[in-house]
Amino acid sequence: MKITIGSDHGAVALKDEIKTVLGEFPDIEVTDVGTFGTDSVDYPDIAEKVCSAVSSGQADRGIVLCGTGIGISIAANKINGIRCALATDVYSARMCREHNNANVLALGGRVTGFGPAGEIVRVFVTTEFTGGRHARRVEKIMALEGKQK
Ligand code: RB5
Repeated sequence: MKITIGSDHGAVALKDEIKTVLGEFPDIEVTDVGTFGTDSVDYPDIAEKVCSAVSSGQADRGIVLCGTGIGISIAANKINGIRCALATDVYSARMCREHNNANVLALGGRVTGFGPAGEIVRVFVTTEFTGGRHARRVEKIMALEGKQK
């Protein structure tokens, strides 16, 4: 599985921790699009880099991080093909895969500690979409992209 990851300046340390967690999985290849330091950057730019990799098929899934995870998840969900879930607990991480087929996970570097975030990521990368009635709902979500002007 190819995963593209990116954060703004509010979550660089958590991004590094998540890369270590992803290193536990031999089949996962990680591409880090930055940012890499403490200089302020704009989270929509990071969301665009990660999510364009996912929507183009270059990456199978994405992980986006900012201080809260809120701004970058809002930005991510503006990009065609993206279903981004902000998760602060393991149950939500499992449900966003099983029910929503989320292809991007958002985390908040100033909200979620390393331990819980690591568990959230492990669940996000190992849980499959259930399909069935959930597939119909996900199709309806994606159809909204074409309905809006
Ligand atoms: C940056 O200071 C902060 O606004 C950002 O990381 C994020 O929390 C926005 O939602």
